[in-house]
Amino acid sequence: MKKKSILLTGSSGICGSAISDSLLIESYDFLFLDIADPIPGQDDHSYYKTDLSKTDEIEKVFIDNDIDIVIHLGGSSDRDSSWDAVLNNNIIGTYNLMDLSVRYGVKKVIFASTNHVVGMYEEDDKDASYESLFLNRDKKMVDRHSESRPDSLYGVSKLFGENLCRYYTEKFDIDCYMLRIGSVREKSGDHPYNYAEAGVRRGDFVRGDEGYKEQELRLKSIWMSRDDFTKMIAKLIEYKSSERFDIFYAISKNDRRSFDIEYAEKKLDLDLQDNAEKMVWKSEYGLNNNQD
Ligand SMILES: NC(=O)c1ccc[n+]([C@@H]2O[C@H](COP(=O)([O-])OP(=O)(O)OC[C@H]3O[C@@H](n4cnc5c(N)ncnc54)[C@H](O)[C@@H]3O)[C@@H](O)[C@H]2O)c1
Repeated sequence: MKKKSILLTGSSGICGSAISDSLLIESYDFLFLDIADPIPGQDDHSYYKTDLSKTDEIEKVFIDNDIDIVIHLGGSSDRDSSWDAVLNNNIIGTYNLMDLSVRYGVKKVIFASTNHVVGMYEEDDKDASYESLFLNRDKKMVDRHSESRPDSLYGVSKLFGENLCRYYTEKFDIDCYMLRIGSVREKSGDHPYNYAEAGVRRGDFVRGDEGYKEQELRLKSIWMSRDDFTKMIAKLIEYKSSERFDIFYAISKNDRRSFDIEYAEKKLDLDLQDNAEKMVWKSEYGLNNNQD
C-alpha cells in the first residue's frame, strides 16, 4: 500500500527534528520544507528550502507532489516576535499553506498552535508564586472551551491560524486539528530544567534561587517530552473523526499542568507517558550542550 505523503513545514526546527528523529519517518513518505537548511538525518528525504510567505515558491511544492497531510510547524515561534515576523511567517505563511492545501486536495492539516493563545490566564496570576499557581487543583484547567486570551502578537497570529483552519473546515473538504503546544525542547535539553539551566548559563540567576525555581516550576507545568509529542503526532496522522476541526493541548502528563490533556487522550486514544514532576535534576542538565 502506498505510504501517506506528509509535508512537514518548519522541518529544521525543534519540533520538526523531534519528528524526523522518531520512527514516524519510516512509516510515511515525508517531504520537508523550511526557510533554513535541513538538519542532520533528513538527507534521504525530499527537501524544499522555501519561504512560506512566497506564494509561487510554495505552490511549486504542491504542483510537484501529491500531498495527503500537512503538518504545519513552520513560522516564527518566539513569543516576542515582531509584527513583521508574525505577519509574514505566521499569517501570510499559514494563509498560503491553507489555500494551497484546499486547492490541491490535502485531506488533513495538523497545525502547531501555542499555549500563548491563552497566555493571559498565566499572566493574571503572575504575582502568586508558581508553586501555588500550578499545584492549585481547585483552579479550573484551561481547556479548549476557555476563552482565547493571547498574550502577544505571536499568540494573536496563531489564533489567526486556528480561525483560518476552522473556516476552511466548515467551507471546504478538509480536516484541521490544532495543537496548542506547551513546551517541546531540543534533543539535548529534553527535560523540565531546560529554561532554568538556560537562565543560569545566561547569568540571569543561580541554580536554586527564586528565579531558577520559577523557571523550573513553569516548565514542569508546560513541558512536553519529545516522545510524547511524536506519539501525539502519530495519533493525529491516523485520526479519523466526524469532527473536522478540533483543538488539543499538547503537554506531558505533568502533575503541575494547568492545561487539559484528558480530552486529547480520550479523543486520540493517546497514552501520554511522561510527567515532569518525576524527573529529578541531573548534573548533565547543567552542561551547555544545546547544539541540536
Ligand atoms: N517548541 C515549542 O515548545 C512550541 C511551543 C508552542 C508552539 N510551538 C509552535 O510549533 C512550531 C514549531 O516550533 P519549534 O519549537 O520547532 O520552532 P523553531 O523556531 O525551532 O522552528 C520553526 C521553523 O520554522 C522555520 N520558518 C520560520 N519562518 C519560516 C518561513 N517563512 N518559511 C519557511 N520556514 C520558516 C524556521 O526556520 C524554523 O526551522 C512553531 O510554529 C511554534 O510556534 C512550539
